[in-house]
Amino acid sequence: MPVRLHVNVDHVATLRQQRGTPYPDPVEAAVFCEQAGADGITVHLREDRRHIQERDVELLRALCKTLLNLEMAATDAMVAFAERIKPDIVTLVPENREEQTTEGGLDVVANREKIGEIKARLAEAGIQLSVFIEPDEAQIQAACELGVDTIELHTGDYCTADDDEAVESELERLAAAAKLAVSLEPDLTLAAGHGLNARNIPDLVTAVPELDELNIGHALISDALFSGLTDTVDRYRAAIEAGESER
Ligand code: PXP
Repeated sequence: MPVRLHVNVDHVATLRQQRGTPYPDPVEAAVFCEQAGADGITVHLREDRRHIQERDVELLRALCKTLLNLEMAATDAMVAFAERIKPDIVTLVPENREEQTTEGGLDVVANREKIGEIKARLAEAGIQLSVFIEPDEAQIQAACELGVDTIELHTGDYCTADDDEAVESELERLAAAAKLAVSLEPDLTLAAGHGLNARNIPDLVTAVPELDELNIGHALISDALFSGLTDTVDRYRAAIEAGESER
């Protein structure tokens, strides 16, 4: 199965919120991405509502034809929102008020009980659960023990590595994490994301053959300013295929 491309449209909403205008609309962007062949749409409804709004998620739930992945903090209010909207999958992420973007993965080891409770509530509502974690053995073991449907590996350190040795070492860390996850839970869906772009996708996809999907936002939306969403989605898919062909 080819690696799936899920587009995160948060930063279309960032531009809209910056002026308080009705445009550009992340829901419209999601429709373009789906028409261009994206396999899923991802949005992060943050506690401070700095980009995506509840209205966006409600409309996306009605319009999304592929798969809707709602990233959110592990709070009761967000779980109640997810139970009402019923995205296909919820990805739990850590959230700090001051951060510019998600910094690091969720601590599943420390929050095992809470995440277990959330998993049960979401399963009751027919929603799958993903956790966004560091490529770390203890985190992967804890996530697998909880029986999550998807693990999304944080690729931030790979994407910011600034010399060949560091890049190689991050790729090895991600590859080892993926192997461990799939050996513990063969039916697990393995995702990756954060900081990915058309240049760093191929090596990741080659190095981690267990990958099922990528979640990509900031770089893809930025590239679309110059090339349009349709061409950009095409280019990112070509980057995935280039990585697959080198395995
Ligand atoms: N995956 C998760 C869990 C995220 O929190 C984010 C950022 O919102 C992404 C993927 C996408 O990261 P980027 O915007 O750097 O592509």
